[in-house]
Amino acid sequence: MTHRNDPTRDTEDTAETPTATATADALRKRALATLLTARDRTTMLTSCVEGPDLTGQVSPLMSPLVWDLAHIGNQEEQWLLRAVGGQEAIRPEIDSLYDAFEHPRSARPSLPLLAPNEARRYAADVRGRALDVLERTAFDGTRLTEAGFAFGMIAQHEQQHDETMLITHQLRRGPQALTAPDPEPVPLYTGPSEVLVPGGPFTMGTANEPWALDNERPAHRREVAPYFIDTVPVTNGAYRAFIDDGGYDDPRWWAPDGWDHIRRHSVTAPQFWRRDGGQWLRRRFGVTEAVPADEPVLHVCWYEADAYARWAGRRLPTEAEWEKAARYDPVTGGTRRYPWGDADPGPEHANLGQRHLRPAPAGSYPAGESPLGVRQLIGDVWEWTSSDFAPYPGFRAFPYREYSEVFFGPDYKVLRGGSFAVDAVACRGTFRNWDYPIRRQIFSGFRTARSAEVG
Ligand code: AVJ
Ligand code: FE
Repeated sequence: MTHRNDPTRDTEDTAETPTATATADALRKRALATLLTARDRTTMLTSCVEGPDLTGQVSPLMSPLVWDLAHIGNQEEQWLLRAVGGQEAIRPEIDSLYDAFEHPRSARPSLPLLAPNEARRYAADVRGRALDVLERTAFDGTRLTEAGFAFGMIAQHEQQHDETMLITHQLRRGPQALTAPDPEPVPLYTGPSEVLVPGGPFTMGTANEPWALDNERPAHRREVAPYFIDTVPVTNGAYRAFIDDGGYDDPRWWAPDGWDHIRRHSVTAPQFWRRDGGQWLRRRFGVTEAVPADEPVLHVCWYEADAYARWAGRRLPTEAEWEKAARYDPVTGGTRRYPWGDADPGPEHANLGQRHLRPAPAGSYPAGESPLGVRQLIGDVWEWTSSDFAPYPGFRAFPYREYSEVFFGPDYKVLRGGSFAVDAVACRGTFRNWDYPIRRQIFSGFRTARSAEVG
């Protein structure tokens, strides 16, 4: 599988040392494993329903599942077969169908899409060829292949669409198609409700995370004034107090655009919630259940998070505040990859990878807490921040402008930390997600902050 065992390879005139070969082997293994993990999940999400549930549309906000499936294959073809492998297009005529910028999601069901079996065959064909390219690729040639970047980018892309497809499953009406064990119950969290994060500079973004995407770069120093941040995400129980206090009827708490929006669309509770006499029920992947008070609130838009925070006498953290709380080590002054340190996420650290189909109760994963004692920054729910999606100083689009650059500006708010639906390969202390402030079909929640008094 590696060129170390290839007898035709002339090892004399290469600069590759045995250590470099071992590194390349490890990278190739890691790239292979992440691609396979992503494909297993894609297969699961697109084989547990059939017919119109694959080809139809559950909401104008979402693509048909069969579009995501072929788009995953098409993106892999473009980057791993054409850009890295130097190959010709397999089916050039389908490129435009699966170009996210040519057709809005609402228009995708009426396109002449590949039928489910054709889409599966296409994605499998691309994958077979991509694994051949992987075997032949050296990881030191170009920026695209350095440290296996293109393979990591494509595995992350597939996992991002897997999360998108999971959102489609959540929106779908009809019987339950997915199951997963619930997270471990934990005793009610009774630790401090907030911690003080000291002011001063920290390093935001990354210079040396090999598979970090363009918007996470470059690493740069960021000055932050001292602030308090919640130790756990805002729970359903806390959010209910806002509802019960008439929060949705009081314009004082709402950004003006948000107030217009919730009035026009009669938004009175998180998406998928329904009042039933004295209690609140929610629909979760086809099952209706009581809303659990101790779980992080889910399916709220930025305007709802912002309004709750104002009602509570607090505010959303800025993106820099979120990242400092997640990565800054006050003992060393250094910046970690994750709140718990530099180790890759394990099941003890965070609720990631669709191991569960819900967030874990607030206070879960003590092994994943930050040095300052902030919990569940990674996994469970995406956390809205107050910040617009903007480039870091020195940003350079790579390898394509349409991943991040075209979205920079005041239209999008940044979310951080990942949800239960995010795979570890697409989740880091530096990872940045973004969406419109009215969106709430995504697995979004939040925590709050407040500035520390100075002087
Ligand atoms: C980073 C989640 C906003 O889904 O629009 C998928 C990820 N980019 N294909 C999105 C993405 C291209 C992106 N988000
Ligand atoms: Fe995509």
